[in-house]
Formats: sequence, C-alpha cells, structure tokens
Amino acid sequence: MNKVIQNAGLSYVPPVTPKSYQSIEDKFPIINPNMDNEKWKEKFVSSGIKCKEYDLCIDELGHKGFSNIFTGYLLTKEFCKQAIALAEYKNIWTTDRHENYPTTDVLIRDLGLDDIYESNVLRKYIYPAAKYMWKLEGSEWDAEKLKSETFLVKYRPEAQAHLSLHHDSSQYTCVVALNEEFEGGGTFFHRQQIVSKGGTGSFTLHPGQMTHRHGAKPVTSGVRYVLISFVNPLTEVENYKVSVKEH
Ligand SMILES: [Fe+2]
Repeated sequence: MNKVIQNAGLSYVPPVTPKSYQSIEDKFPIINPNMDNEKWKEKFVSSGIKCKEYDLCIDELGHKGFSNIFTGYLLTKEFCKQAIALAEYKNIWTTDRHENYPTTDVLIRDLGLDDIYESNVLRKYIYPAAKYMWKLEGSEWDAEKLKSETFLVKYRPEAQAHLSLHHDSSQYTCVVALNEEFEGGGTFFHRQQIVSKGGTGSFTLHPGQMTHRHGAKPVTSGVRYVLISFVNPLTEVENYKVSVKEH
C-alpha cells in the first residue's frame, strides 16, 4: 500500500514505480557503466589473476616452455553467468561474421560490454600478462597500444557443434570458458596435440596467425559458451574499422 505523507493538512501519494521494471543495466550489472571500476573488478574479476604475479597465477599447458598455451583464472562465475544470460536475453546471434570459419556468435560491442571488458579486463590483466609470459619487447605490446575484437560464441550439438582447424586473425588470442555444463567440446591445438577445456572463468592465451592452428571439438550435449578476444595493434583495428565504414 502506498505511503500517504501528511503535510500541512494536504495528502500526497508518491508515484508508484512498478517493482517489476528493471533497466538492462540493473538486470545485468556487468554492463552497468555507472558501477565504480574497483567495485566492478571486485565482483567480476577472479582473485586468480588480481595479484598480477603472473608466475604464480598462470600455467603453461602441456610441455612447459614449449606449448605456448597459457592458462589461469580471469573472471568470476557471476560474470560468466551474466554474460551468457545477457547474450541469450539480447538474442542477436550472427552466423556470417567470419567468412571462412563461421561461428554462431555475437560481438560484445552489441551487448554493451565492449568498453568495460576492454578497460577492466583486457587492458588491466590480459595484455600485461601476455607481454610478461612471452617476454614481448617494445612499447607496441603495451596495453594502451592494443585492442581486441571480442565476441561470445556458442556451440551446441543441433546447430554449430564444432569449428574446423584454422588460424586466428590476431597477434594472439584470449579464450575464456564461460561454462562447463556440456559434454565434448574444447579447443584442440593440432601441432601441440593439446585440448584446452578450462573451468568456468578460466582463460587460455595462444599465438594467433602461426604455429597454433586449432579448432573447436564437437559438443555432444549441452551448450558450450566461450568469450574470444582477437588481440591486435590498436592502429590496425582502428584502420580496419575505417576501411569497413568506407566500403
Ligand atoms: Fe580460433
């Protein structure tokens, strides 16, 4: 029942806000631009990466010192749950973005997540981690000189169950596992003979255009969701955007 405020003999009934109304940012706080960055990281970035002592929080899969496939924990289960729910809620999946190797995916830019993910996750943790793990030299590998195209992909038995072996259009790639409720699946690296299928919120880093030809193994039941970032020099990404606009 509405509260009646008595003032100088006049009655005032405050306007009713329907309890069921929620903005999309209320429903999915991962895209709330008003959330303080520190609070956002506290809620959505895993303590597994926050110490930034990468020797302690990142492992190399397979033959140590040789596979060049690094893994660790990056995001909380809450982030992963919200990212999947947001993608399904928006339901704007595409299947024609990648000419040769089409995936069922959605750009996180179209989910309203791109800027927050780029600044609070990739720039803060992934770009510095990659620079450290591969001992990359030169300022071109600094966080502010890089930019990712990030998209959320789903694999399911009845639609796209697998992805053929391929190289990525990236200097390096970061793949985050958003769930574990599926059978089969995983990223298979052909030359390294390694299957990566990390726990919810974990990431793998691998070189993009050479040496790490890979594919997605078929999912046999359930749905597999992953968040993929193609990392490239900022100038290249910006030039690409301009050239796409001009055509
Ligand atoms: Fe790939």
